Amino acid sequence: MKQSPMTGSPDAFGEDTPLARELADLSSRRRSLEAADVSFSGETRILTVSNQKGGVGKTTTAVNVAAAIAAVGGRVLVVDLDPQGNASTALGIPHSSDVKSIYDVLINEYPIEKVVQQSAESPNLLCVPSTIHLAGAEIELVSQVAREHRLRTALNAYLERAEAPVDFVIIDCPPSLGLLTINAFTAASEVFIPIQCEYYALEGLSQLLGSVQMIQKHLNPQLHVSTILLTMFDGRTRLAQQVAEEVRTHFAGQVLNTVIPRSVRVSEAPSFGQTVVEYDPQSAGAIAYREAAVEIINRSERSNEEGTR
Ligand SMILES: Nc1ncnc2c1ncn2[C@@H]1O[C@H](COP(=O)(O)OP(=O)(O)OP(=O)(O)O)[C@@H](O)[C@H]1O
Ligand SMILES: [Mg+2]
Repeated sequence: MKQSPMTGSPDAFGEDTPLARELADLSSRRRSLEAADVSFSGETRILTVSNQKGGVGKTTTAVNVAAAIAAVGGRVLVVDLDPQGNASTALGIPHSSDVKSIYDVLINEYPIEKVVQQSAESPNLLCVPSTIHLAGAEIELVSQVAREHRLRTALNAYLERAEAPVDFVIIDCPPSLGLLTINAFTAASEVFIPIQCEYYALEGLSQLLGSVQMIQKHLNPQLHVSTILLTMFDGRTRLAQQVAEEVRTHFAGQVLNTVIPRSVRVSEAPSFGQTVVEYDPQSAGAIAYREAAVEIINRSERSNEEGTR
């Protein structure tokens, strides 16, 4: 049997090393993905990716799930609702201060079709960019008429007029529960919460769920938490496994089976203006996001039933 010069253990070409097992697992998951049957219902599903905790993987999840849905034939609109503009960057969409953006939609009542851009990754992948101007919007919105409904009104008008039907709208929220996030909660029917598998992961979650309930009661009865995704999972640590178990116990019906591993490829993709699905489609992170996308698409019937309840 071949020995690895570094460790003296069997190398990746042997049958039973952790690396060989991982590679075998990845190629069988890749085959399952190629065989996966996906179809779109014809209805537009609007998901808001939210968690007021910073850095948990909201943007990474929003753009990669969107890219993975587009890659299997769905038409997806990503709305970058964060003044940081990270989703626009990750999709390779220009968003310097002179670009018309979601700010103009919310504050100046521009129609979405005037600001939407197509990602170079796919003609099915569209993005309403965010620019630095959005940083002032939380304050400017306070004095506007129908300040909580501005995104919903603009999206509805766009979806009615869109030249081709849009299967998914995915809104990337900032890490706060201010008026921008409230606009997302009012426009969406599904809340999609990424949870980082780390200590403190569940802290603040009750505040988020409380906000969802408030919006449900006063502004948008359709709103419900449909999807939870565990991100940045490092299976070698007991802590990550404990967090995952706890989330699965509390939110059995919402948590996706797929877990996103912590992976360098995922974190380096945005610096190339690409999603990991485009940057390294065969990597563990890309495969996991593609699996998550298939689960989300296939949950459409159940979610439609819940939405009409
Ligand atoms: N699976 C992963 N593996 C490795 N790094 C990751 C992974 N997911 C996200 N990251 C990195 O973690 C950081 C935070 O991710 P991201 O920007 O998606 O979080 P966020 O919740 O959108 O943050 P914010 O609250 O600032 O908007 C980024 O540097 C990102 O590249
Ligand atoms: Mg973000």
